[in-house]
Amino acid sequence: MSLKDRVEVGADKGGTIMRDGTVLVTGGAGYIGSHAVLALLDAGWSVVVIDNLVTGFDWAVDSRAKLVVANIDDAEAVRSAIRAHGVTAVMHFAGSVVVPESVTDPLKYYRNTPAASRSLIESVVAEGVRHFIFSSTAATYGIPEKVPIREDSPKAPINPYGMSKLMTEIMLKDVAAAHPMNYCALRYFNVAGADPQGRSGQSTIGATHLIKIAVEAATGKRSHVGVYGTDFATADGTGVRDYIHVSDLAAAHVDALDLLIARPQESHTMNCGYGRGFSVLEVLDAVDRVTNMTIERKLEGRRAGDPDALVADNSAILAALPWRPKYDDLNGIVRDALAWERKLAERGR
Ligand SMILES: NC(=O)c1ccc[n+]([C@@H]2O[C@H](COP(=O)([O-])OP(=O)(O)OC[C@H]3O[C@@H](n4cnc5c(N)ncnc54)[C@H](O)[C@@H]3O)[C@@H](O)[C@H]2O)c1
Repeated sequence: MSLKDRVEVGADKGGTIMRDGTVLVTGGAGYIGSHAVLALLDAGWSVVVIDNLVTGFDWAVDSRAKLVVANIDDAEAVRSAIRAHGVTAVMHFAGSVVVPESVTDPLKYYRNTPAASRSLIESVVAEGVRHFIFSSTAATYGIPEKVPIREDSPKAPINPYGMSKLMTEIMLKDVAAAHPMNYCALRYFNVAGADPQGRSGQSTIGATHLIKIAVEAATGKRSHVGVYGTDFATADGTGVRDYIHVSDLAAAHVDALDLLIARPQESHTMNCGYGRGFSVLEVLDAVDRVTNMTIERKLEGRRAGDPDALVADNSAILAALPWRPKYDDLNGIVRDALAWERKLAERGR
C-alpha cells in the first residue's frame, strides 16, 4: 500500500484527512510538547494542553492553544478537559526526563510515568478518545546489541527512566487490545534544536542535553562542557548519538496521528531518529563552527551505563508515514538551538 493510500483511507471527500476535534497535548508547556503544539496548530488542529508546569512554562504554550494547569493523574481535570474541548486524540509528552535522577529517585519516575500514565489512559478510555501517541525513548533498548537499532531489538532498559517508558508502552498495548483505542509509541533518540521560526525552543532549567549545554556555554551561562568518556568503541572515543531536530520530531507526531485516524485497527511503535550518529566531539566541533568560538571542553570519566553508540534504524517510520526529515543537518540544529538560547538570554531567562 502506498503512503497516499494510507492517508486517504480516513479522508473526507476533498481528499484530505479529517482533522476533526481537538488534540489533548500533555506536557505541552515543555520542550518537545510545545513544538508538537505548534505543529498541530499549523496543521489545522485545535489543541488543549494539560501541564502541571513542574518543568514547563505557561509562556511556552502558543496562544492559539488552551492551557489547563493540572497533573495528568487528576482524573477530574483530565476528563472535564476532554469533554469541554471535544478531544479526539491525545499526545502524551508529560513525564520526568532526567536519566541519572531516575537512578537516584526511581519511585518519582515510576509515579510520574507508568502510574500517572495509567490514570491518564483510564480517563482517555472512559471518555472514548480513540487515538493516543506516546513519547517513548531509545532508553527502552538499554545497551543495544546492534546499531542501527531496529524496533524489534531486545528491550533491556538499564535505568528506571527507560523501564518506566517500557512499562507504559506495554500498558498501551494491552489497553489497545481491550478497548477501541489505537496508539503509536514513538521512541525518540536525542532531541535537539528549536523551532526554526523562533517560536519555541528548549527552556528547561538545568538541562542535561549536550547541544543545549553547549549553547548555554556559548552564551555565557556555563563555563565549559563536560565530555563524559573518551574510551568508547567509536572512531574518536566519545559517545555517538542520533540527534533529531525537534521540529522534525513534532512533524512526525502529526503524521502519526493521521495514520492512527486512517487505520483505527492498527497501532505502531517506531523509532524517531535520522539513522546516523555524531560523536560528542563532532557535535562540539559543530558548535564551535556555528558560534565561531572555542568552547572549553573538560574531559571527564564515563557515566554509568552510557552505551558507545545509539543510532536509530528509521526504516519503519519512513515506510509507515509520509514524514521526511526537513532539518537533518547538524549545523542547522545547532544554529536553531543557539538562536533560541540567545533569545532566552535577552529575556533574562
Ligand atoms: N528530550 C529528549 O531528548 C527526549 C528523548 C526521549 C524521550 N523524551 C520524552 O519526551 C517527553 C517530553 O520531554 P521534554 O524533553 O520535552 O521534557 P520537558 O521536561 O521539557 O517536558 C515535560 C513537560 O511535562 C510536564 N509534566 C511533567 N510531569 C507532569 C504531570 N504529572 N502532569 C502534568 N504535566 C507534567 C512538565 O511541566 C513539562 O512541561 C518526555 O516524556 C520525555 O521522556 C525526551
